[in-house]
Amino acid sequence: MDYDIKDIGLAEEGRLRTQWASQEMPVLRSIKEGFERNKPLRGTKIAACLHVTTETANLAMTLKAGGAEVVLCASNPLSTQDDVTAHLVKDHEISVFAINGEDTDRYYKHIDQALDAKPQITMDDGADLVSRLHKERTDVIDGVVGGTEETTTGVLRLRSMAANGVLRYPIISVNDADTKHLFDNRYGTGQSTMDGIIRATNRLIAGTNFVVVGYGWCGKGLSMRARALGANVIVTEVDPLKALEALMDGYRVMSISEAAELGHIFCTVTGNIHVIRKEHFEKMRDGAMVCNSGHFNVELDLEGLEEIAEQRRRVREFVEEFTLPSGNRINVLAEGRLVNLAAAEGHPSSVMDMSFANQALCSEYIVKNSGSLENSVHDVPEDIDKSVSRIKLSALGVTFDELTEEQKQYLESWEIGT
Ligand code: ADE
Repeated sequence: MDYDIKDIGLAEEGRLRTQWASQEMPVLRSIKEGFERNKPLRGTKIAACLHVTTETANLAMTLKAGGAEVVLCASNPLSTQDDVTAHLVKDHEISVFAINGEDTDRYYKHIDQALDAKPQITMDDGADLVSRLHKERTDVIDGVVGGTEETTTGVLRLRSMAANGVLRYPIISVNDADTKHLFDNRYGTGQSTMDGIIRATNRLIAGTNFVVVGYGWCGKGLSMRARALGANVIVTEVDPLKALEALMDGYRVMSISEAAELGHIFCTVTGNIHVIRKEHFEKMRDGAMVCNSGHFNVELDLEGLEEIAEQRRRVREFVEEFTLPSGNRINVLAEGRLVNLAAAEGHPSSVMDMSFANQALCSEYIVKNSGSLENSVHDVPEDIDKSVSRIKLSALGVTFDELTEEQKQYLESWEIGT
């Protein structure tokens, strides 16, 4: 078995941490039990390009229990947990190509090594694997029957491929399942981003002006959690509806130019490029902290910051300080990469349980429907989404109600009024 990881000697720590995560992943555990019995993925090769965390390890083991051969590479150079890679290789004979801190060349080499396995299914987080397959690695594309995508940014890229008629196989947008984005993007990003900022800086959040750039599901979750820690949250948006939503949710809303002067901490979660630029860095107060929790490291214009900075130095693990001609210091966390995965451990297991349950069930769905889905981006089937919420609630011991026959009829009727 081929692999490229940091140190196989870290396997024991990875095993303990992966088991710890599993305790909070009841939906995935129940799917694994079913997979072990029925082997719905028998003989299927899956190349997965995901953040290699303890939660991902549990997903990989679930897919393997279903009969799949899994090859794993990283979806971000800084998010890999090296002990987890060792555990997967040593204890589960899963091929992993991922090393925390790998440079761009090695990152793509690892994606290529995953593709060398000639997968039938791709599982992506950000669409780097799919993009590579369509641009540089068309040699293995004919064998692919379908794929899944984990995140908003990846779905945007894939929809653009589909709209341009270049997407060569069907992909299921796991991100758009309700049991994914309503929980993972909101509560997962909210908590893990605060965790990353706090671990990186050890600063008190209470009383700070905390600027959240972007008010999608991630921005909503982050604003909620920053407020809960006592911050004065300022939201910036380009979409008037979302700006209005943020305002009515009780936050201050203003342009990034105005917010730049006020913020102590800034976090981007837009999925877009260069949302904080030179002209904003120049307005920031001394000691401002800037980070990103969107998928790619393009949201902060760091080249622009480098150009205007007179000095830069690393002041703590995960913190780089840039000094501007005014003497003001700007602290960039985690190189502008996902602060929640680089400086902390990503989303907690309990939300990844639902995201990865969708991943596992959608892989089964792709195998069952191989050859009959169009080459476009598909929603997660409603019965999969609903079953994930049902299993989660039952695992949490929470009951909910059912409609009576009378209520069902009432909802379907139009005759009864005032
Ligand atoms: N994305 C965000 N958090 C994650 C986690 N814990 N594992 C895998 N992917 C993630």
